[in-house]
Amino acid sequence: MINLNKHLNKIINFHSKKSISKSFKYPLLDDAFSNEDIIKGIEVILKKKITMGDITKKFEYEFAKFMNVKYALMVNSGSSANLLAAFALVNPKKKNFLKWGDEFLIQSLCWSTSLWPLIQAGLRPKFIDVNLENFNISEEHFYRSLTKKTKAAMIVHVLGSCSNIKKISQVLKRKNIFLIEDTCESLGSKYKSRYLGTYGDFGTYSFYYSHQITAGEGGMIVCNDKKDFEIINSLRAHGWDRNLNKTKENQRSFNFINSGFNVRPLDISAAIGMNQFKRLNTFKKIRNDNKNKIINSLRKSSIWKDQLYFLDHSKDLEPSWFGLPILINKNFSKKKKKYLELLNKNNIETRPILSGNFMNQKSIQLYNLNPKKIEYKNSQDIEDRGFFIGLHTKPLTTKKLDILVKNLLLIDKIN
Ligand SMILES: Cc1ncc(COP(=O)(O)O)c(C=O)c1O
Repeated sequence: MINLNKHLNKIINFHSKKSISKSFKYPLLDDAFSNEDIIKGIEVILKKKITMGDITKKFEYEFAKFMNVKYALMVNSGSSANLLAAFALVNPKKKNFLKWGDEFLIQSLCWSTSLWPLIQAGLRPKFIDVNLENFNISEEHFYRSLTKKTKAAMIVHVLGSCSNIKKISQVLKRKNIFLIEDTCESLGSKYKSRYLGTYGDFGTYSFYYSHQITAGEGGMIVCNDKKDFEIINSLRAHGWDRNLNKTKENQRSFNFINSGFNVRPLDISAAIGMNQFKRLNTFKKIRNDNKNKIINSLRKSSIWKDQLYFLDHSKDLEPSWFGLPILINKNFSKKKKKYLELLNKNNIETRPILSGNFMNQKSIQLYNLNPKKIEYKNSQDIEDRGFFIGLHTKPLTTKKLDILVKNLLLIDKIN
């Protein structure tokens, strides 16, 4: 029998020494987990019941209360949350459920698993371009594209911001069109005083590593309709009714009432995620301050000449960032590849905005989803000139800020 305390101390000492680095590093997310987060996870392991249980239920309750929605259901990733939302729309238990080949709208600048679950559920995409101000769906293009054939819309809220989702949701409701809000990049952002993800039929969230909060992996799906909740609840676990209230007709213990997947989370992820969730508003404030510090300091530089643009958001948005989206000025756009290579070499991690123009992905060709080769100009422009860096959950020190800003201004020096 090993001495658990001694062993844990040895592991903690080893890893805390390893994580101390004197050289400058600006990763997507810095020091993701507090000691308390880790202890919450370890507690679950020590109880020796790590599968989905009471802690997941508690997190779901806290999440729903915070978001001001009736129901929240935890899953093992944001992609799985999208999967359940998509399959709920085509589920025979849903009122006016969608049929094979029905059309949905989605932006061309999207994430892989914003798109594929709906196609896997048998629906057909119609792509809409985004706008260059905040990289979200172009409302003009969106309203123009709504036809009698439109049965659903998947709106992806990009990196903490959004289009006028209030108006979009009202228009869709009037036309009886289902709305899923992929809020995997925007947990905690509010539009017109209401949290993103709570305007539609379903809102989905991700707790993957570099997001607003993290559980390593994990996700949540929210809704306000009891029937919808019952559908996603059984889809999450084999089509089982095990996590639903028993009715008189339903007394069997292995009662499979629907089709299903297994996308259950672990209670370990729920414990870590729930502990991080308590700090969401603190993270939101610090990240916003860090974002302002970076932009202000760039603009104060003597060599500043608008080399970089920053996302412009509506005054109705109270944003929750996890990254700082940046668009390179057109005069410098040819330098993007070399610029990002240089930032990377200098230990500044960068990522594309979502996955760029999704029309360029091989998977689109594989399934021939853009047969007319329609161009999505703004999505392409964002792919050509856009990228983002992380925003950390601790205040940026002046020293770190100076090095970061100096590096970001190196674009001038690239030939
Ligand atoms: C918009 C969007 N949707 C869905 C996902 C998938 O989330 P997950 O990585 O938790 O599966 C991501 C991932 O980053 C995302 O950015």
